[in-house]
Amino acid sequence: MRVTTPVARRGLDPAAVRAHFPALERLHDGRPVAYLDGPGGTQVPRATIDAIAAHLAAGDANTHGAFAASEETDALIADAHAAMADFLGAHDPAEIVFGPNMTTLTLAVSRALGRDLRPGDEIVVTRLDHDANVAPWLAVAEDRGATVRWVDVNEEDGTLDLDGLGSLLGPATRLVAVGLASNAIGTINDVGRVTELAHAAGALVYVDAVHAAPHLPINVADLHVDFLACSPYKFFGPHLGALYGRREHLERLAAYRVRPAGDRLPGKWETGTQPHELLAGLLGTFTYLASLGRAYGLAGHDADRRTSLRAAMVAIRQYERGLIGPLLGALAAVPGLRVRGIADPGRVDERVPTVAFTIDDHRPRAVAEHLASRGISVWDGDYYAVELVRRLGLAETGGMVRIGLVHYNTLEEAERLVEALDELVTLSSA
Ligand SMILES: Cc1ncc(COP(=O)(O)O)c(C=O)c1O
Repeated sequence: MRVTTPVARRGLDPAAVRAHFPALERLHDGRPVAYLDGPGGTQVPRATIDAIAAHLAAGDANTHGAFAASEETDALIADAHAAMADFLGAHDPAEIVFGPNMTTLTLAVSRALGRDLRPGDEIVVTRLDHDANVAPWLAVAEDRGATVRWVDVNEEDGTLDLDGLGSLLGPATRLVAVGLASNAIGTINDVGRVTELAHAAGALVYVDAVHAAPHLPINVADLHVDFLACSPYKFFGPHLGALYGRREHLERLAAYRVRPAGDRLPGKWETGTQPHELLAGLLGTFTYLASLGRAYGLAGHDADRRTSLRAAMVAIRQYERGLIGPLLGALAAVPGLRVRGIADPGRVDERVPTVAFTIDDHRPRAVAEHLASRGISVWDGDYYAVELVRRLGLAETGGMVRIGLVHYNTLEEAERLVEALDELVTLSSA
């Protein structure tokens, strides 16, 4: 999916956005903490926190009981599925499955799909993906004697070698597992093209949209994917995983489940008791996002949730596009710093504002520690993009430093980051 220039009614107002997030008030040495660690998990708006507290305060109950609190839980679960379907552009809430996180959901689907795999079947994975969309497929291929084929990464700009994908696909291909955006270097992958090629070969497509979800509007119907997984805690919600699966697949595949779950969707795939309070929190997140869509996006004030959520993500994308160019430009001026992935400020349409880099003679952990001492939170290492970091030859040297901007981050924070990096480099060369 190439994200073309989206249109919002007016630009997001960062001060108004930030006022929704209590955690952004946290101070370090008297200055606000700069949370540039969003790819590891984002902060949540007050609407999310309030919804969790309100659910618990009202009195929680398990499902399908004869009394009011239980009926309320049933309604809450149904609404959470409908809202998630709105967010992902799915038409049927029964095609949404919740779980503890994306990894657990992907392991469940991989095991179920694995039941149909035979020796000689093939699965395609990429060297750009987070291990949660690689390791489950490697394991199931090993169990069933299937062959794994790898889509490589173009080293100089961190894009997927999709020209090579055609030659990897054939009548034996059963599944292609691909990410929508890289959690390490921010590349947006052309999942539409992957899906077209995979479907032409008769294979299914499993998309990891965990990193795309806080940045881009997602529409599973437009993308024609078979499965798409994401994690609400990466897009301003509580710690949950969510999966979209085409009804025909969710119905046909044999899930690992307990007997009372039956064959009905989505319960067939949702093992055990759901975290009701977190589903309430997720609805709070969607209330917040929908309000952004109405305030800044093209959704009118009476627009429905689906339209408002899409409008919000378009407005967010537009705001974030404005952060990428200046960030890349400023990083390029730091002596010895090398951005891994798309470094050209003119190619904003091909990436989200997640930028990984190395600095000559500085271990990534030491850079992250220096930034932490200045109140700037960033990640270092491989962030489970194991194959990519190996492919870039950085596994033995501590990986990369990763800056992850989301819509509550500002250009001022990016400037503060670059100042702190300059300071580090200057101090060490003095
Ligand atoms: C791109 C990507 N995929 C998958 C995951 C795993 O998600 P979860 O923690 O929900 O299992 C992550 C988490 O960092 C991620 O960034």
